[in-house]
Amino acid sequence: LNPTVRVTITGAAGNIGYALLFRIASGAVFGPNTPVQLQLLERDNEQSKASLNGVCMELFDSAFPLLTRVITTTDPLEAFEKTQAAFLVGSMPRGPGMARSDLLLANGPIFQSQGEALDQTADRNVKVLVVGNPCNTNAYIAMHNAPSLSPKCFSAMMRLDHNRAVAQLAQKTGRPVCSISGLKVWGNHSNSMYPDISQCTIAGVKATELVDEAWYNDYFLPTVAKRGSAIIKARGKSSAASAASAAIDHMHDWWNGSNGRIVTMAVPSDGSYGVPEGLVCGFPCICTGGGEYEIVKDLPITASGRARLDATIAELVKEHDTVAQLCE
Ligand code: NAI
Repeated sequence: LNPTVRVTITGAAGNIGYALLFRIASGAVFGPNTPVQLQLLERDNEQSKASLNGVCMELFDSAFPLLTRVITTTDPLEAFEKTQAAFLVGSMPRGPGMARSDLLLANGPIFQSQGEALDQTADRNVKVLVVGNPCNTNAYIAMHNAPSLSPKCFSAMMRLDHNRAVAQLAQKTGRPVCSISGLKVWGNHSNSMYPDISQCTIAGVKATELVDEAWYNDYFLPTVAKRGSAIIKARGKSSAASAASAAIDHMHDWWNGSNGRIVTMAVPSDGSYGVPEGLVCGFPCICTGGGEYEIVKDLPITASGRARLDATIAELVKEHDTVAQLCE
């Protein structure tokens, strides 16, 4: 067996947490030969603590061979102690009538204090995946509050958007998901995101030869962008299992490598594609193994794609500016 990996999940008693913990404990991220220690953070109130206790009883009852220990805490310093992989899920959901900017300011302080705690106690090579929304900007806040960690330790989740786009293409063309490569989603995890199929191939054939532009513009783009709302409307609750699955895919590839495949990760920009340096933006990435990733450079971008990319960058710049006081 490999050495035990310490894994932190914040908001562990929430919807996504409930779908995430059991798969991590079963080996879905770190593999069948790597034991895990779960370090679970929740809010300091009776309901959250009771609920987390119930989840822990179920983890216990699952008798996972790879699960060596479960720690529950309301203290971020304890939750991030020596952590090597941190899923930052816990945050306030967007309430009715709440603007995105209100959500930013409500959740920002959570990621400010968790960034500070990561800075103090996490493993120096920790991989932090921010899921809680608005995830790009929350990752930006956490990163700025952890100056002793490399910015490359921080990422935000756009894999759900990526997976949704792949699934739509697979369904439309009648080809399996595994035959699709080269798709990426640029920008912000919001309606402004840009799912790009311009270099995507399906079983070796260019996707743009298999689907027409009207379908791409009028069905694919809005369906992918509004899928979250469609799921809330259908279930009465936001997507949780698919979000957890995307978080697992993201961390799995980051940790183990993506086998040369392009995957979408929101990561701090290195200035590529005219994205201002430091902006946490969805990029095409290849995970090269050993916990490293690279932004794929010099891909051609169509004129309409460029306009979409510029729009989503502008939104990100505005969001990051809104939280500037939390990043000093
Ligand atoms: P939820 O409300 O069911 O669970 C959130 C949990 O976080 C709750 O148990 C709450 O007590 C806890 N929490 C809140 N503040 C905390 C803090 N400061 N420290 C520790 N725990 C805290 O929400 P759900 O469905 O699990 O979603 C979580 C987040 O994930 C939301 O922000 C949601 O918008 C986001 N999300 C992101 C997606 C993406 O693609 N990036 C997709 C789906 C959801």
